[in-house]
Amino acid sequence: MTTFSQTLSHSVACERNQEPIKDVLKNEIIFGQNFLEIGFGTAQHAFFFSSCFPDISYYAADQEQAHLNYLQRKMVLGAPENLFGPFQFKASDKGVLHNLNDEKFSQIYSANTLHIMSWPECQSFLKFAANLLEDQGKLFLYGPFKFNGDFTSESNEAFDKSLRARDPKMGIRSFEDVEKLLLGQNLHQSNVYDLPAHNNLLVFTKRSIE
Ligand SMILES: C[S@@+](CC[C@H](N)C(=O)[O-])C[C@H]1O[C@@H](n2cnc3c(N)ncnc32)[C@H](O)[C@@H]1O
Repeated sequence: MTTFSQTLSHSVACERNQEPIKDVLKNEIIFGQNFLEIGFGTAQHAFFFSSCFPDISYYAADQEQAHLNYLQRKMVLGAPENLFGPFQFKASDKGVLHNLNDEKFSQIYSANTLHIMSWPECQSFLKFAANLLEDQGKLFLYGPFKFNGDFTSESNEAFDKSLRARDPKMGIRSFEDVEKLLLGQNLHQSNVYDLPAHNNLLVFTKRSIE
């Protein structure tokens, strides 16, 4: 069986989705500020977005040592000047383990991670992300989601089934569960974009406490 780590060098899905995601980000990004990606995987998005948006400082973090080593090797061969990392970031049901500095971020982005994490890991990640964001900072979550209990396509329903068969803790998350959790952390939904292949890009903004 081929594992994700063995196929690290390339993700066809990333190649397909990076342009549509970029088209949304270019209207949503807070330019000139820092940007943290959680769960960079093959680091294709990290390389692509950091070169598309040279005036953001792009920080790339992942949980797996193989991914960290892979990005380290890639960066030695050459990387955009505004790409920093790799940083370690692992969400567990008990909280988050990371080696990021104490600084706050203006924006946090994560693609295709919530359905891989268990729900308690998602909760730790989202709460931590909310805390790490500056006021008016944005959280971008990309991937497949359920809305009002419904999958957005039959293919997503089949994907959810295959995830749960692999590990019952995985599964496509409900938009309403994510929204509720984030609202409790002072993050308000600002936009939901429909992207190709029945994926969505959710944008949440942190609202200052008055
Ligand atoms: C399906 S891959 C997505 C990779 C990349 N973002 C993409 O869109 O292709 C899921 C990523 O989430 C990371 N991940 C899974 N569970 C995690 C956790 N508990 N904490 C932090 N990252 C996690 C994995 O290491 C992996 O890089």
